[in-house]
Amino acid sequence: MNQERSDTLVLFGATGDLAHKKIFPALYAMVAKGTLTEPVIGVAFDAWDLKQLQARAHDGIVKAIGKVDEKIFAKLASLLRYVSGDYRSAATFEKLKSALGTAQHPLHYLAVPPTMFETVIQGLEQSGAAQGARLMVEKPFGHDLQSARWLNRALHLVFDEQSIFRIDHYLGKEAIQNLLYFRFANSFLEPIWNRNFVESVQITMAEDFGVEGRGRFYDEVGCIRDVIENHLLNILLLLAMEPPVGRSADDLIDEKVQVLRAIRTLTSDDVVRGQFKGYLSEPGVAPNSPVETFAAVRFFVDTWRWRDVPFFIRSGKCMPVHATEVIVRLKRPPLDVFDPIKPGDANHVRFRIDPQVAISIGAQRKAAGDDMIGEQVELTALDDSKGDMPPYERLIGDAMNGNGQLFTRQDASELAWRIVGPVLGDTMPPHLYEPGTWGPADAMAGFGPPNGWINPAK
Ligand code: BG6
Repeated sequence: MNQERSDTLVLFGATGDLAHKKIFPALYAMVAKGTLTEPVIGVAFDAWDLKQLQARAHDGIVKAIGKVDEKIFAKLASLLRYVSGDYRSAATFEKLKSALGTAQHPLHYLAVPPTMFETVIQGLEQSGAAQGARLMVEKPFGHDLQSARWLNRALHLVFDEQSIFRIDHYLGKEAIQNLLYFRFANSFLEPIWNRNFVESVQITMAEDFGVEGRGRFYDEVGCIRDVIENHLLNILLLLAMEPPVGRSADDLIDEKVQVLRAIRTLTSDDVVRGQFKGYLSEPGVAPNSPVETFAAVRFFVDTWRWRDVPFFIRSGKCMPVHATEVIVRLKRPPLDVFDPIKPGDANHVRFRIDPQVAISIGAQRKAAGDDMIGEQVELTALDDSKGDMPPYERLIGDAMNGNGQLFTRQDASELAWRIVGPVLGDTMPPHLYEPGTWGPADAMAGFGPPNGWINPAK
């Protein structure tokens, strides 16, 4: 396995949206911290020159962080190169090869639609640019189990698994790292973190906006493929996994894979699908599209630790708030010694993932006054988010260093598709919901964790 740090970053899709919004701001932050000093070669179809790419990068950074320190930007600009050309043409890869010069271990980052993956990989191989290189690919990794397998086969024709870095940017979030850390750096959770004490787990990712001009992309994907099969299932894995036996990437991923293997394959009874009213008039969306913009899904993890504990995940566009949260709800005390505790007021652990990072423990205490009457309170550790490293910065840095811990391994990517496979591609119209609500209320009645959902606050 190649242990060396990558000596050049090659960014396919350099003129695209993702590069503009996320990747250039991440590279800028890396340059500011001195963690990126290697050349960055942008590759794209557009017949731009380097100056245009630099201007585009500058614009993306201003939009992402407000203002730019021009000295730092000048350093980033001096690292940038640009190769323009069609990915189907050998000449593009010849130009890339010569731009790579003496680089031994480039990291090729495919920020391009998955339909282009195979073409780019073949171009890399035929030009010799794949030799000694790493490959980073953006989601989605396929569309279903069959296409994921096919894609993995195509990647493996040229790159070995250790050199492939499948990005799920959620795994690079500070709060997700914190969740993992909190679970395994404390001992007080372990005795209760199982079916004897946990009643249910719920994960909510709510977005208070629609598809924002991405109608064409979104309409091919839908909520389950877009965020549940990857980002939110990954959160479930971190909550449900056993402690890893060591610190290596494989030690951690092996435990996640064990959970994936134990998750029951979904059936239609496990899912409620919704679509916000107005979705069909979004540009790029097919007339009468059956694609869901909201989904609530029930998972079961058939292990000794979790058997019969329901794990619910729900996510939607046009929800009342923009927030991602996890609630691990404990069972109620066996007897109410004082006043009856309200059904939803059992102890819980809340992980706030977005927009702030916080961990809270929900508990009952006596309310001030004569009587032994309780109230629900939360003990919260709130992170001020200062110094948080944005996901793309962390993940690009890790891939440059060959550290695969936060990336998705082949077996994990295929197992996730196995689980959701039967509920994909439903052509029945989803239940409609009003924008600004928590999904289709009638269809959701009775579907959720025992004692109900907890809606994240603004
Ligand atoms: C992306 C999805 O992967 O994640 C988007 O395609 C979603 O639809 C986004 O909005 C959410 O990520 P974040 O980090 O902005 O919460």
